[in-house]
Order: sequence, then structure tokens, then C-alpha cells
Amino acid sequence: EVTQAFTHGLPKAELHLHIEGTLEPDLKLKLAQRNHVDIGQHTIEEVQKAYQYDDLASFLAVYYPAMNVLQHEQDFYDLAFAYLQRAAANNVRHVEIFFDPQAHTSRGIPFKTVIDGLYRATVDARALNVDAQLILCFLRDFSKESARQTLAAALPYKDKFIGIGLDSDEHNNPPMKFARQYEDAAAAGLHLTAHCDIDQKDSIEHIRQALEQLDVERLDHGTNIVEDPDLVQLVARKGIGLTSCPLSNSFVSPEMKGKEVLDLLAQHVKVSINSDDPAYFGGYIGDNYYALADKFNLTKAQVVQLARNSFETSWISATQKALYL
Ligand code: ADE
Ligand code: ZN
Repeated sequence: EVTQAFTHGLPKAELHLHIEGTLEPDLKLKLAQRNHVDIGQHTIEEVQKAYQYDDLASFLAVYYPAMNVLQHEQDFYDLAFAYLQRAAANNVRHVEIFFDPQAHTSRGIPFKTVIDGLYRATVDARALNVDAQLILCFLRDFSKESARQTLAAALPYKDKFIGIGLDSDEHNNPPMKFARQYEDAAAAGLHLTAHCDIDQKDSIEHIRQALEQLDVERLDHGTNIVEDPDLVQLVARKGIGLTSCPLSNSFVSPEMKGKEVLDLLAQHVKVSINSDDPAYFGGYIGDNYYALADKFNLTKAQVVQLARNSFETSWISATQKALYL
């Protein structure tokens, strides 16, 4: 039987985690005070009462305004280090952390401030026995030109992040919109992933574009792929990772895409379990494993396979991988 002690203690990699989504109510209030930013809420209860959403758009409407409390390099450090301590407690040995530079540069915070603070926390995480890397995400509801400028501003810091991703509002923002940025990022030696959120208007078409036009190595969420057996065969054959996030999914789909995850596991697709925005969706990565295992009666062997998939589809070196597998 799979217990919480088992899911939390299992060594694992986290591959789908937005650092801005780890901003807990207590840190939000502390930073609001420290930086004299009025967020309209003064207690943890008030902050939590505002966490009402039932789809991606209503979530993002709560998510972005809260980022105003992040102003200085130290704020980004504090945010990331608090997450990394939680990761260590969940026995996360390796994490690839998304960050959204445009959510900060668009309100006047320099790219350097953001990456310096986050990167410094990843260095200090080595003392926690957590290997942490960064992935720059483009906001897909911003223009191509904004993505181009963001990549140009980021490339001088190329030694501080390992790949690019695509997030925010997917509606009418297909992967193809960013084909040029993905080509440029690949040419710069960066790894590639992209969100294909669950149950979007054009889920299958977006998955196809991400795989065929952007040439991604992973799909974030992407579990709607089960609707297209040919695409499932393709990701199984190429060893493409799918990063599923059960508690995040539970806000839009009561079954958390659990049947799809089990179906993909049975077809030898490298699906993994992750926490997405844990401060907003009710749990860190161990809780995500447990929620899925509990609801769908997963065996220990299935849970172990999910954790193995997380290391296998991570962007660590083959020698480093061998240590975990
Ligand atoms: N930004 C943070 N979390 C996200 C998600 N689940 N989908 C798209 N954009 C996001
Ligand atoms: Zn996400």
C-alpha cells in the first residue's frame, strides 16, 4: 500500500514547477510589507480567500497581480530558497524550475535582478542536497516580438539557465507562434519544452505543433495526447517526457487526468508527476504523488516508475542520471 511516507520519501526529480507559483501567503504578506506594496490583503486568511479559480484564465488573474511583491534580487532569492527547502523535505534530488521573466520585466524589474536572485538560491540549494536548474518560460499571450526581446536579454546569462518553456494563456496562442524563438534557443544549445495544458480548445493540434514544429523534448501536461494513438506512439518511441500535475488538474478536471496517466504508463510513455504551482493548488510534489496514488489505487511499482520517469526525462547528464536510476 502506498502511504504518504512512501510518496514523500521517494527520491524524485521535479520537472514542472513555476517558481512564482510557490509564493506562499505568509511570504507574500512579508514581502508586501518589506517592499511597501499594497496587495489589498493583510492576513493569510484574506489572501487565501482570494484563491478562487476554476480554469486557467481565472487562475492567472489571481496569479500575476500577486507578483508585484517581488521587487528586489533578495525577494527572488527568498522565494526560490523557500521552495528549495520544501523540495528537500519532499526528497526532490533534482529540479528544473520555470520562471517567467516577462511577468517581471513588464513591470519594470530588470531581467538581471530576477535571474541573479533565483540563480543564487539554486547555488545555495546544493547544501540541501538538491540539484536545481532554471528554465526560462515565454508568456504565450505576449507578442512574438516580446519573446524575441526576452531571449535576447537572456542569452548573455545562458550559463544560468538550461532551457526554455512556454506558459500562460494557451487560448489562441499556439506553439507555432514561437517557432522562431525555439529555433534560436535550440541553436544556442538550450533544451526545449512547452505547455500543452489539459482540455484546451486545440489540445491535439497544439501537441502536434509542439512536437513537430518546435521539436520539444518534453510536453508540460500534454495528457490529452491519449486521444491520438499515433502521437502517443511517437512520444513513446522518442522517449519524450510528459509532466503531469494532478492537484493543478483537479481544479479543472475532477479526475485529475489519472486515467490518462495510467494509460500512458501502460503504453511506456515517460509521464512524471509534478506540482505546477504548489502554493496555489494545495500541495507540493509528495502530495501530488499521494493524491494520484490514493484516488487511483496505484501500486508501489507504478509510483516508482513515475519517479524513474522523472529522472529519465530530466536534463541531467547521462553520468548523473546513472546515479539515480
Ligand atoms: N503559469 C503558471 N502555471 C501555469 C499553468 N499551469 N499553465 C499555464 N501557465 C501557467
Ligand atoms: Zn505549468
